[in-house]
Amino acid sequence: MMQPTHGGNVYKVAQKQRIPVERITDFSASINPLGPPAAVLRAIRSALKQIVHYPDPDCWQLRQELARQCGVDPDMILVGNGSTELIHLLPRALAIKAALIIGPTFEEYARALMDAESSVQYVHARRAERFHPPLNDVLRQFSAKQSKFDAVFLCNPNNPTGQVMNRLAMRELAEVVDRRQGWLIVDEAFIDYCQEQSVVSMLSEHPRMMVLRSLTKFYAMPGLRIGYLVGASKVVDQLKDRQPPWSVNSLAQEVSRAVLHDHAFATQSRIFMKKERSRFVRGLRSLSGLRVYSSAANFVLIELPASICAGEVTDRLASERLLVRDCSTLPGLTAQMIRVAIRTANENRQLLAALGACLSKRQS
Ligand SMILES: Cc1ncc(COP(=O)(O)O)c(C=O)c1O
Repeated sequence: MMQPTHGGNVYKVAQKQRIPVERITDFSASINPLGPPAAVLRAIRSALKQIVHYPDPDCWQLRQELARQCGVDPDMILVGNGSTELIHLLPRALAIKAALIIGPTFEEYARALMDAESSVQYVHARRAERFHPPLNDVLRQFSAKQSKFDAVFLCNPNNPTGQVMNRLAMRELAEVVDRRQGWLIVDEAFIDYCQEQSVVSMLSEHPRMMVLRSLTKFYAMPGLRIGYLVGASKVVDQLKDRQPPWSVNSLAQEVSRAVLHDHAFATQSRIFMKKERSRFVRGLRSLSGLRVYSSAANFVLIELPASICAGEVTDRLASERLLVRDCSTLPGLTAQMIRVAIRTANENRQLLAALGACLSKRQS
């Protein structure tokens, strides 16, 4: 199966341009620019002595902490080598045969499903509705008489549209999926920026709902690989049976425990993001010809003028060592779509200037 193109491949650009990775500013992966918190380095130093042992295969201590934060039993938590590992465990472990994906969205769900020989169908949010989650379309398709769907996948807030399905709509969706004994997989990789929308508290009423979380983005440590899933303990056991042993290394486990206690970092990051996102979006909207979609997360989806392709802008910006995500090949989007992460004020100013120059050159 073909590898999808994800954001964040700084290595490829560095190799091509023969420059060190550090000279690239990466707007293509949506990583918290304030991180990683200082606790990360401290935890790595103190955990180094543990590398002579295999990591705890049950992530016991980390699961206690995650369970406390989520208000669930530790048996309802499975930790993975990034949430990507868990996305890939789900289709086979749950024996999903026909899945409905709410798009346009993260490509890895489709990849994992197809890898497990499940059929995949999308219900796309519409550009004309500013990519508002298409709840009614999903309900209609899922509950149609001839429907064979046994799972719905959605990302909330959604990557790359930045849109949120609110809790009322989520409850409605969960009820319909329950009624047909389907699985509802909710990826909350970016929920830290709108925590009040999380559906973890609904899990007790919906045992066929699984929530995925990532620690790599908010705590800026994608290189360490760590994520987790919250769901019914019986299902968690089923998934665990299929997980390779020791897939979560000891440094990642220790660091995660440390960052989960850093409430000051979390609060500061949320305050920063809210303020910087609105400043950055204002700046982007002032550039001629761009359509900038609102976002509840730490990235924004941008539609370029019809005369310019995403690939062209992405290449030009890359030549200035600014990486943005070309979204033109994502099912449900057009050739003009790019996604940019919200970074520090200085870095954002740099991107605004480069993007502005690129647009005016192209339009003159
Ligand atoms: C929506 C979404 N979910 C999950 C992931 C995977 O994150 P990780 O494996 O680093 O936890 C990503 C990565 O980009 C993502 O965008």
